[in-house]
Order: sequence, then C-alpha cells, then structure tokens
Amino acid sequence: MTTLRTRVAIIGAGPAGLLLGHLLERAGIDAVVLERRSREYVEHRVRAGVIEYGVANFLEESGVGDRMRREGLVHHGVELRFDRASHRVALSELYDGRAITVYGQAEVVNDLIKARVATGAPLLFETEVQSISGLLNSTVTIETQSPDGPLTIEADFVVGADGSHGVSVASIPASVVTRYERVYPFSWLGILAEAAPATEELIYCRHERGFALYSMRSPSVSRLYLGVDPNDSLENWSDERIWDELTIRLATDDVPAIQRGPIIERGITAMRSVVIAPMRYGRLLLAGDAAHIVPPTGAKGMNLALADIRVLAPALIAQLHEGDDRLLERYSDTCLERVWRAEEFSTYMTQMLHPHATDEFENGVQRARLRQIVTLESTARSLARNYVNLSSLQEPGA
Ligand code: APR
Ligand code: PHB
Repeated sequence: MTTLRTRVAIIGAGPAGLLLGHLLERAGIDAVVLERRSREYVEHRVRAGVIEYGVANFLEESGVGDRMRREGLVHHGVELRFDRASHRVALSELYDGRAITVYGQAEVVNDLIKARVATGAPLLFETEVQSISGLLNSTVTIETQSPDGPLTIEADFVVGADGSHGVSVASIPASVVTRYERVYPFSWLGILAEAAPATEELIYCRHERGFALYSMRSPSVSRLYLGVDPNDSLENWSDERIWDELTIRLATDDVPAIQRGPIIERGITAMRSVVIAPMRYGRLLLAGDAAHIVPPTGAKGMNLALADIRVLAPALIAQLHEGDDRLLERYSDTCLERVWRAEEFSTYMTQMLHPHATDEFENGVQRARLRQIVTLESTARSLARNYVNLSSLQEPGA
C-alpha cells in the first residue's frame, strides 16, 4: 500500500482541476491531480467551445492562453434565426468592443495538460478516487485505485473538480447540502463534421420543428446541434436525416443552404440545471460541474468552471501560505451568486429557443422574446453582456 502526502488533492483533470493545479504550481504549492480516465481520453473529449471575454483574459494572465490567442476564433457577434429570417446581434458594438473566443474545451484541456507535464508536477491518469474521509479533521484521506494498485493520498485540502456524478459531492452528508435541480424536456444531438462553417458566426436557431445551433471549431470543422426528444436515440438518426433536419431548421429565405460533410463525432446529451449549495464542506471545496450544471444553450459550462478557479486559487494560496481563511470562507457564496445568474441566463436562452410541441401560448411568448432582442437595444445589450462576459461581471472593471 503506497501513501502520498500533498497539500491539495485535486480530483478531476477537466478544465477546473487542471487550471487549479497550474495556479497552485505557479504559487509553489504542492498538489496532486487525480484523473480516472486516460490522458488520450480527456484530450479528445468533445465539449462546448465558447470562451467569454473575461475568462479568456484570465487564461492568458494565468500563462496558458498563448495558443488560444493564436488559434481561437474571435467572434464579435452571433446570429439569431427564427421565422425563416436571420438577425445579427452585434455583441461587440453592444458591449464596449468585447468579444468571445471560439476555442474547444479539448484544446483548453490539452494546453493545461502540457503546462503541467512540463513542470513535472504530479498528474495521475487512470487513477480513480473511490473514497474521501476526514473532511472535518486536520488531514483528509483519499483512497484511489491506480494502475499500480491502491494508492492513498493524504492532503490538507481536497478539491472536487470531478464533474457531474462525481464522488466528491457524494462524500458530503446529505443533511448539510442542498441539491437544486431542473430537467428540461429536450436533449441535444451534437455532431462534429468536416464541413466549412456556414457563416463566420454562431447561429442560434428556433424553428417550429425544434432548436438548431451552428457552431464551429476551425475554418474546416463545424459543430452542429439539433434539439431532440429526450427519449430519442442515435440509431434513429442516419447522417442523411441529421443533415436534412439541420438544413430545414436553419433555412431562411435569403441565405444559402448549409454545407454538408463527413460526420466525425456524434452524441446525444440530456439538458439539465443543477446547483449544489454550499460548495464547501470542511476541507472539501467543489468546483465546476461537480457543483453546478447548466443547459448548454448559454455556453456557460466551461466558463463557470474556470471562473470558480479564479476565486478558489487565491483563496487556497492565502490559506496555505499565510493561514488566512477569509477568502476560503467566502468561496461558496461568491461563486453561487455567479452560478445562479448563469442558471437564469441559460434557462432564458433555453426556453426562448426550444419551441413547445403543443403549448401555443408558450410559443407566442418565445417569439415575442426573440423579437424583443432584435428590436429593442436595451434587451440586446443585456443579452450581449450576459453572453460575452457573465462569469466576470462581478470582477472589478467589468
Ligand atoms: N476519480 C478521478 N477522476 C474523476 C472521478 C473520480 N472518482 N470522477 C470523475 N473524474 C474526472 C472525470 O473523468 C473528468 O475528466 O473528473 C473530470 C471532470 O472534468 P469535467 O467533466 O471536464 O468537469 P470540469 O472541469 O468541472 O469542467 C466543466 O465540462 O461538462 C463540461 O460543460 C461542462 O464545459 C464544462 C466543463
Ligand atoms: C459549441 O461550439 O459546442 C457550442 C457553442 C455554443 C453553445 C453550446 C455549444 O451554446
């Protein structure tokens, strides 16, 4: 039986866990990142790809934004399509010249893994955390299963950045934590395709047959989504049916049909909102998807995860360098204020863009909301601020 002693054990090598590991390493604090999957797996997991203005700046300030700045696609607007017409929301004009960066989460993860591997700091793949104990004691004990057999980690703090369904939330007694949850009556069928993007900007589309989204990863790779029934499955969707449906939903009276191409990845994801409160229990701090899930319509998942770390890293550093607990004590409240704002925005976007099968009153409200964005500047401005920078609106100067 091997035991490893560290100051901070970080569970999960997603964007949250890896960025925290990087910032602690820069501050000279010894930490171990534990990841149950292989490096190959996490580097190729296809996820969302919109980085907010303030979060992109934060990645750059953290020393891991070089490739994002070089290769990320800077977008100054998004398109809204409904009732067969296309409307541009000029994000940058509406919000002080600020823009979003389209750069896949897998790329962020790649950059962070490279940065950690370059320092030689511990990043243990294929090492699954099985139990966490002693959260109210002075030392936390974490039992893992590693490729070399059982491995015990002893740490001052443990950070649960282990995504949804992680082991860390389960180690908090149910009586001291509240789980707020909403399940939406639709899922997204997502594809990655070798096809040149239809336009230079993302297209969020509401069609009577359902939601559609046109996004991209590069000038030759597109990422597209269709809103589908939660009980639907991939077997029902041939390549041809996927493209036909995307073509119908995204059609307008004056824009050419979308380009088709080989589909290189596909999946169906259910949509839900979850908030776990508080985000701390004794020596356990939750971050990212482990603490909150948003439906993808607002593109907030990765931004919230990275914004948690912007609060958590200085809090842990102050505690471990100076014994100063004040920031750590405020961690959960500071994050939850932003998380609930993101839940509100994501719910708003989701409900406005997914037509209801039978409720025509609801459909009338959805279309009125969309028309309000494209006709009323104050509404468009509010959308632009939330879309471009929600996760940093509490930061000074935002
Ligand atoms: N032991 C070790 N690792 C674990 C365990 C465990 N018991 N359970 C989960 N993990 C790992 C997962 O394999 C995953 O790689 O934790 C990692 C969590 O990473 P993410 O799911 O990427 O979560 P996070 O870093 O919070 O990033 C949130 O992910 O789902 C998207 O939209 C979401 O973009 C957002 C981002
Ligand atoms: C994506 O590019 O995968 C993407 C973009 C915007 C969203 C969700 C996903 O709202």
